[in-house]
Amino acid sequence: MNLKDTVKLANGVEMPRLGFGVWKVKDGDEAVNSVKWAIEAGYISIDTAAAYKNEEGVGQAIKESGVKREDLFVTTKLWNAEQGYESTLAAFDESLRKLELDYVDLYLIHWPVEGKFKDTWRAFEKLYKDKRVRAIGVCNFHEHHLKELMEDAEIAPMVNQIELHPQLTQEPLRKFCAENNIVVEAWSPLGNGKLLANPEIKAIADAHGKSVAQVILRWDLQIGVVTIPKSVHQERIIQNADIFDFELTEEEVAKISGLNKDERTGPDPDNFNF
Ligand code: A2P
Repeated sequence: MNLKDTVKLANGVEMPRLGFGVWKVKDGDEAVNSVKWAIEAGYISIDTAAAYKNEEGVGQAIKESGVKREDLFVTTKLWNAEQGYESTLAAFDESLRKLELDYVDLYLIHWPVEGKFKDTWRAFEKLYKDKRVRAIGVCNFHEHHLKELMEDAEIAPMVNQIELHPQLTQEPLRKFCAENNIVVEAWSPLGNGKLLANPEIKAIADAHGKSVAQVILRWDLQIGVVTIPKSVHQERIIQNADIFDFELTEEEVAKISGLNKDERTGPDPDNFNF
């Protein structure tokens, strides 16, 4: 496995297993620099969202990186306020304009807004058929949301990006997604930084001469989920990609998975108010 390693989505598109997430990265210099550092470090996948308000900085970094567009995998997401058929199409155009791109690799529904996500999905299917996006998916969908969406969908979601880390391992939802050929992608893989002091993971990290962050990201790869750590520090961006020269034993993977407490750092998708 290496930084260019991919997983095949249901439609055959290859999605990198490790990407760079930019939630909470400020637009302007912070976004431009961190995305450039990530691309320099060899990341080929960048995960942003309209709601992060940094699509312009991400687009500028991509342009200035000198890397060919087709060699990158860019994800963005539709914000809740824009859900609905026409408003989704308009919001997508606005994201492309800000990113200064003419397509994105993956477009995701950010949250399952009840009563709206099915109309939104019809617009996603249109964008996909019109070849303006290479793949479509969702975020923060529980199994019941996925079932509801798939009842009427022509095209099933290819990705479900969910909060996932050693204290929220999401085993039942991962199983459902695997059975339905939906790739699971982990947001806040480091538990928003809260897991970095975990003593059990620290012991495993010491045994490998790696950091806690590296061990958690390696665990993501070994349990088969796509992962998108965020950092605005160049040395951490480089460190988070340096996870291909060691392997966790089965026991270590099981030990980390055993830390699960079903504990979220963000809202439950059944109960969010934005
Ligand atoms: P920073 O951006 O200041 O480097 P998650 O991806 O789970 O949301 O976690 C991101 C948090 O973890 C951020 O606060 C980020 O801070 C921090 N972080 C990311 N990578 C590392 C690392 N290798 N070592 C320590 N902290 C990290």
